[in-house]
Amino acid sequence: MNLLPNFMRLPAAMLLVLVCTQGVAANYVDLRRIEPVHGDAAAGASRAVVCVACHGPNGNAVVPTFPKLAGQRADYIYHRLVEYRNADPNAPYYVASPMPAQAQTLSDVDMRNLAAYFAAQTPTASPTITETGDEQGATLYSNGDPAKGVPPCQGCHGADANGPIITASRYLAYPMLRGQHAAYLVSRLNGYRDKQAHDSTNDFIMRGVAHMLDDGSIHAVAVWLDSLPVVDKH
Ligand code: HEC
Ligand code: HEC
Repeated sequence: MNLLPNFMRLPAAMLLVLVCTQGVAANYVDLRRIEPVHGDAAAGASRAVVCVACHGPNGNAVVPTFPKLAGQRADYIYHRLVEYRNADPNAPYYVASPMPAQAQTLSDVDMRNLAAYFAAQTPTASPTITETGDEQGATLYSNGDPAKGVPPCQGCHGADANGPIITASRYLAYPMLRGQHAAYLVSRLNGYRDKQAHDSTNDFIMRGVAHMLDDGSIHAVAVWLDSLPVVDKH
């Protein structure tokens, strides 16, 4: 039992109180039952002109702290945009982020179309990879770290890190990690570990995973994911 993350030991009612007293109730997005996102990729392409200034040609970001969007799962992209639109831009997690302001300019239809557009693009390898992944990252991804209570990443992000193959509603907005920039992955994992994001039921899940990761493990798994050859799914 000691291996369970703390929140899993709390009764459901206490968990709810915990969530609410952290001030997240107002904008909290419940992603446990969602409908698949269907957008118009062609319409999204014309809306994406502003996005690719930062997220790179076709969503293949060149700057390693900016996430690649090419080939990312549409449901994940759409719900992240909804979370940015709902976000308090003055919250510490968001003050340095351009995304809440970006999302304010988008309608719900725009967000669906942009999600369809970026999901349909082919990811390319990071031009900035300087390290190759090692065994530590691969092992953590496949097996987790049972001694510390870290579950295997592949259980939720898929054996090939392209996202889960389970199509049940609650897995739709689980992201692909394969080929993502290591620097971006490190900053996200630090954010979950430090419990910065309070946007959705899904980031609550990921906070439970990340809270036992040390800096070395975060670095190893991020570098390993970045170094994986990208797969053209189209
Ligand atoms: C000024 C630069 C900039 C622009 C313009 C921009 N983004 Fe971003 N975007 C970022 C950065 C930096 C992050 C990651 C850190 C964060 O959350 O702020 C990000 C994060 C995201 C994420 C989350 C990705 C993930 O893996 O979780 C999505 C989705 C996204 N942006 C979509 C868009 C879309 C769609 C547009 C165009 C409407 C856009 N962005 C415009 C800089 C930008
Ligand atoms: C129990 C399921 C589960 C497990 C196990 C899991 N994840 Fe996640 N992960 C998620 C969910 C759900 C999200 C989406 C969270 C959100 O929307 O912010 C996510 C998001 C992420 C992100 C953010 C991606 C982006 O584009 O911003 C990273 C990085 C990540 N996970 C890495 C890992 C690593 C590394 C492991 C293994 C140590 C792992 N995850 C294990 C469910 C899981």
